[in-house]
Amino acid sequence: MTEQVARNDSERGELVLLRRGGALELRVNGVFVMDTVHTETERLLARATLRAAARTDRVLVGGLGLGFTLREVLADPRVREAHVVEIEPDLINWHRRGLVPETADAIRDDRVVFRVGDVAEVLDAQPPSSFDVLLLDVDNGPDFLVYDGNSALYRADFLARCREKLTPEGTVAIWSADTSPDLSAAMREVFGNCEEIPIPVTLGQQETTYHLFLGRRARE
Ligand SMILES: C[S@@+](CC[C@H](N)C(=O)[O-])C[C@H]1O[C@@H](n2cnc3c(N)ncnc32)[C@H](O)[C@@H]1O
Repeated sequence: MTEQVARNDSERGELVLLRRGGALELRVNGVFVMDTVHTETERLLARATLRAAARTDRVLVGGLGLGFTLREVLADPRVREAHVVEIEPDLINWHRRGLVPETADAIRDDRVVFRVGDVAEVLDAQPPSSFDVLLLDVDNGPDFLVYDGNSALYRADFLARCREKLTPEGTVAIWSADTSPDLSAAMREVFGNCEEIPIPVTLGQQETTYHLFLGRRARE
């Protein structure tokens, strides 16, 4: 049985939260974004990156989704501030109203700072060396965008702006449903390195592999 938990229209289109069986599902303009059944890679985005990070005082998460990356960030006691950038204000409100009980503890955590907007614009407004870790999961990957305007987020120009906002030895990590030679090349161009972590996942009967792309700012 499928129940519509919440729905809203913005200038970007339709945002819908569904409960299907026991699971919650987020859809944008009819496109599946994520559900609460398979969240291991969203959590690993945070866990793998923070585990390898020298410092994790200030972390930026873009976007909020169903809150699983954020919750994993907050599980690291070294994190003092978790800045969440989400383009859909309604989604933040739905979380605040308790419509996503699975991650409600994270939303109430005092270390969280919510920022409504496009992650590129919010990041541009920050001073240099603002964050130890940037975790980006705003699409299903560079070749499967939620919004067409997000295509720039996977190119060298935006990654160079991320690098400027990172502290020395800071890390940017990007979630993708597919491998992406172009993203890997752009990371190498900007950071001089790119670690790609393939993660096998089982979706019902189907085996597939998701990918994390990590670029580290060298200590100058
Ligand atoms: C795949 S979900 C994130 C899932 C999240 N990692 C989790 O664990 O639940 C993508 C989120 O990014 C948001 N988003 C899409 N484009 C964005 C942008 N340019 N800036 C900020 N948020 C964006 C979407 O509204 C959605 O909430």
